[in-house]
Amino acid sequence: MLKDDVIRALEDVRPAPVSGQALADRFGVSRNAVWKVIHQLMEEGHKIASVRAGYYLEEGSDRFTEPGIRRFLPPGCPIAIETYDTIDSTNNEAKRRIGAGDSRDLLLVSETQTAGRGRMGHSFYSPEGSGIYMTLSIELGKPLYQPERITLAAAVAVVRAVEPFLSEELRLKWVNDIFYKGKKVCGILSEGITDLETGLIQHAIVGIGLNVRPLSFPVDLEGIAGSLELMQPTRNEIVGRIVTELLILYGALDSDAFLEEYLSRSMHPEKVRQELSR
Ligand code: BTN
Repeated sequence: MLKDDVIRALEDVRPAPVSGQALADRFGVSRNAVWKVIHQLMEEGHKIASVRAGYYLEEGSDRFTEPGIRRFLPPGCPIAIETYDTIDSTNNEAKRRIGAGDSRDLLLVSETQTAGRGRMGHSFYSPEGSGIYMTLSIELGKPLYQPERITLAAAVAVVRAVEPFLSEELRLKWVNDIFYKGKKVCGILSEGITDLETGLIQHAIVGIGLNVRPLSFPVDLEGIAGSLELMQPTRNEIVGRIVTELLILYGALDSDAFLEEYLSRSMHPEKVRQELSR
């Protein structure tokens, strides 16, 4: 689709411009067709500026896009990526996909969720434009002693991905909550598809909800929930960094090295030690 090609071309050279003629030549269409697609993308919320040298994505352009995320993944990363304006829950969609026989490794990211879920039947507040609501569904196909290691790895991945941009450390609360400046900014919901015959975890479905930009919360969350209040980098970059780190950690789930990282940020290290020694 021309629209996907054009946004990919703009993301690839971001923040440099690409001329309308170059885009038209590359995709074998008229400059007018390019212009129409640029306007369509702007209507969808992409901030595209035009200068003499062509079109470019402005610094504040912050919609989720597949090429925008892929730029921050290891080269050749085979994970399929889908982005949504809205969805009930990215974890629900990942499970529907597996139920329908789609066993690809998949990253789903949405601007908002209408039925975002937390642990123990809680809902997860998922307003548009300020947060990251993502699910990484990976065919793990291995037994895992201590399945909670998947959630711990996801928490460490978030720490590694975003702390370089923060003025203070993140703090981790067993097992799935991440705090910044005393407020919960991130929740993780890990679900799995297990094969009872082999005892293998077939699919690890890890959902991460992270409040990135400044936002206001409904009364019941005020004082409890917070945000990283980051204006940079793009949410695409943060998603890419989280997935990159999580894939590295998946390769070392049985090693205890990353647990030390979790413990070093833990609000209650004794509880973590106790839970892991059961
Ligand atoms: C919690 O706080 O208990 C966990 C919250 C997990 C929220 C994320 S947002 C993306 C994914 N989709 C969901 O419905 N939940 C997770």
